[in-house]
Amino acid sequence: MIRECPTTPYDDQKPGTSGLRKKVRVFEQPNYAENFIQSVFDVVEDKAGATLVIGGDGRYLNRSVIQRAIRMAAANGFGRVVVGQGGILSTPAASHLIRKRGAIGGLVLSASHNPGGPNEDFGIKYNIANGGPAPEKVTEAIHARTLTIDRWLTVDADDVDLDAMGTVEVGDMPVEIVDPVADYATLMETLFDFAAIRRAVDGGFRMIFDAMSAVTGPYAHEILERRLAFPAGTVRNGTPLEDFGGHHPDPNLVHARELYEAMMAPDAPDFGAASDGDGDRNLIIGRGRFITPSDSLAMLAANAHLAQGYAGGLKGIARSMPTSAAADRVAESLGVRAYETPTGWKFFGNLLDAGLATICGEESAGTGSDHVREKDGLWAVLLWLNILAVRDVSVDALARDHWARFGRNYYARHDYEGVDSAAADALMAELRAALPTLPGARFGGLTVAAADDFAYHDPVDGSVSDHQGVRVLIEGGSRTVFRLSGTGTSGATLRVYLERYEAEVIDGETGAMLADLVAAADRIAGIVRHTGRTAPDVVT
Ligand code: G1P
Ligand code: ZN
Repeated sequence: MIRECPTTPYDDQKPGTSGLRKKVRVFEQPNYAENFIQSVFDVVEDKAGATLVIGGDGRYLNRSVIQRAIRMAAANGFGRVVVGQGGILSTPAASHLIRKRGAIGGLVLSASHNPGGPNEDFGIKYNIANGGPAPEKVTEAIHARTLTIDRWLTVDADDVDLDAMGTVEVGDMPVEIVDPVADYATLMETLFDFAAIRRAVDGGFRMIFDAMSAVTGPYAHEILERRLAFPAGTVRNGTPLEDFGGHHPDPNLVHARELYEAMMAPDAPDFGAASDGDGDRNLIIGRGRFITPSDSLAMLAANAHLAQGYAGGLKGIARSMPTSAAADRVAESLGVRAYETPTGWKFFGNLLDAGLATICGEESAGTGSDHVREKDGLWAVLLWLNILAVRDVSVDALARDHWARFGRNYYARHDYEGVDSAAADALMAELRAALPTLPGARFGGLTVAAADDFAYHDPVDGSVSDHQGVRVLIEGGSRTVFRLSGTGTSGATLRVYLERYEAEVIDGETGAMLADLVAAADRIAGIVRHTGRTAPDVVT
């Protein structure tokens, strides 16, 4: 029996870069999650009889929202729901499952690398049939619907046992609880040379994988320790916890400090890696050598042909605008096109679907390929392992070799978090107004070559996304980029991206190499003046 539950709209349900992301206490308001899910369902065409995938990163509220979403899916006429056992599905595994099962889409419950628990963050993202995040026209339709919604639909049914694999009925709709890891692990075996990696492990190659008490634990245990035979204990913090053990499941040098220190110690293993809350980001550190995500993208692209999944070469390489241009040089040498897209994985979807790009990446530790339509943390780890095993080199040696060949893009991102929203908006507005005056202006020894507000013209569907961030190009190939985060849950976050290209000096220290640019960035944007901050909160 379908039941109509009357409701009234909330005015804050506009999905951001990665779906609707809010504090748990916001999601706990009456009808809040239901309103958003119903708005998604109202927008999805042809849902009658279709399959819907549901899963999340295991954070607080995951199970409760899944139970409600299942009943609502039954009331909305879906034909089948496929859920990961325990409510678990990493974002890339959800993307794969949507594709493999020919689902119409999926609900991915996560707030990615944001902390979890009753006082922290939760999120709901809708992915479409290609396995990727819904494009802007869909998220806009969902948002419009949230503003007029007056009822949501459910059936009266008990909670499903999410831990028991198999199929049960809710209303008239089958709900299939599946192993969240198996299909994904099998996909990885088709892409990478597991035998070569196993031989390296046999030969003493060792790694640490920090799952940060988040969703990748079960995937890493299965793939790294069981299928690749790394010793037990290789995977640390491998059990998903509702509050991620009280940590930020964000794989960067701040929040994965222990891993970083272990990798810089004299007895460090060969390779260290971590992933985030929902498993789509990656951190790569070799013994004594941190690899920036921008460099990782370039190095993976340059060597991808060593893995069987990419032996035929790359169709193109795509990076988000703030990501360093290191990957562009690789594309040039491979004779393939380089694409520059706005921040957010959804912009890669069209390029991948159209066969224009094979590998994509963002400076924010996201890398992936056309195997799914999300970035994929473990995929990046496995491609690195495959390359190191085949080339039989250390991470440090591979990086030096790469820089000697292509030059080095020194890179850092400075985040100013929890900035007063009005102050952040004023900073960006002033900067945009000053754009015409910037070319030719000098800041210390640096001269501005060009400046613009990045706009993207999608080569596949012709759509235009403008105001994607201010780019200030400096003569000689340095660059600074300013934009406001689209994923924060309190105040505004100003991101300042700093990049300096050096063809010859590949042994510099990043902080020293970027110092002049940091000073110029403050003068260009008036960071101290607008925000009152004299230093960033996070440097990655
Ligand atoms: C951040 C990252 C961006 C990434 C997004 C979702 O968005 O910068 O690269 O796609 O998270 O993981 P932002 O907060 O900068 O809008
Ligand atoms: Zn994530």
